[in-house]
Amino acid sequence: MTVTDTTQGADTTEDAALHADASYAVSHARSQTLHELIDDPQARGRDRLRVLTGDRPTGPLHIGHLFATLKSRVAIQDKGIDTFILVADYQVITDRDSIGDVRAATLGQLADYLASGIDPERSTIFAHSAVPEVGQLTLSFLSLVSDAELRRNPTVKDELAATDGRPLSGLLLTYPVHQAADILSVHGTVVPVGRDQLPHVEQTRAIARRFNQRYAAGEQYFRAPDALLTELPVVPGLDGKKMSTSRGNGISLGMTADETAARIRKARTDSERRITFEPDRRPEVASMLRIVGLFTGEAPEAVAARIGDGGAAVLKRELTAAVNDGLAPHRERRAALAADPAYLESVLREGNARAREVATRTLDDVHDRLGLHY
Ligand code: TRP
Repeated sequence: MTVTDTTQGADTTEDAALHADASYAVSHARSQTLHELIDDPQARGRDRLRVLTGDRPTGPLHIGHLFATLKSRVAIQDKGIDTFILVADYQVITDRDSIGDVRAATLGQLADYLASGIDPERSTIFAHSAVPEVGQLTLSFLSLVSDAELRRNPTVKDELAATDGRPLSGLLLTYPVHQAADILSVHGTVVPVGRDQLPHVEQTRAIARRFNQRYAAGEQYFRAPDALLTELPVVPGLDGKKMSTSRGNGISLGMTADETAARIRKARTDSERRITFEPDRRPEVASMLRIVGLFTGEAPEAVAARIGDGGAAVLKRELTAAVNDGLAPHRERRAALAADPAYLESVLREGNARAREVATRTLDDVHDRLGLHY
């Protein structure tokens, strides 16, 4: 049977932009329906939802992660929805030469997960490297995609552009297929992600459909998953750009109160005395106001009005207090967890075993459908 939709899509940049907008609108609508489904205990039971999401262990998680992802994962878990969280260690080497201290990053990430309320009894936390079945599923999925389709993936293109002239590695080109295996290995149906990950969810949906068509004689073996779009805004860094560990513009969850104060003290503002919320003209000040607001629940305009002529000094004082007070309970739990690496390792080992059991069953089913059983 031929796969008909591998070459479908846009040829010109303009078409590509239109196509991206249209598919965003569709994904957004599906995501809205999903939010409603998740909030309705009866409906979500009937639909047997399973969440799969993950993070690359590239460094400490920061307050952006707390507001954009960790809190919503905990909320989903607390609604009783089966949740799998992946430490995507193989994805670390998609766009860089060295995997770095991946062990430290993984244990730190795990400490932040648990400190934020992810409960390892109810959520399965696992790592790529511990579930080789995911890698093996990737092989059969690679037969379902064309190289043109892989090269068109806008997120992969952006990531390649950000590597400053490195050649496109086979892993960077194909990681969306590996990510499809992450999701489908555990039959994930709900994928909480930011907008940049939508092309990968679309790729996963195409792979699920094509697998069913080509290898499962039309049986609905894989269900096409839906993206659950993060509704919270991306938390800006202190300089108004995207918060990232490597830019040094972020506040990581694991920093001490003193380190946080020092980072905020050194952050640049501007020379205007009066504090106002004007994101375009004053990005640094606007970011700081937004971060205060996230912790206090106020609108950034209200924070600005309160500070007014107090200027940057008062703004920084308020920001330091808001962040350090807001994160104190998380940091206390995190420190206790980080002091017990044996416990963290046991959590990961158990999660790995559970995920591996599910992925092994999926791989067996896939092999059955491919006729690969001896
Ligand atoms: N690519 C995601 C990121 O960079 C991490 C990730 C890996 C992921 N596998 C996943 C997210 C599966 C959702 C589902 O943030």
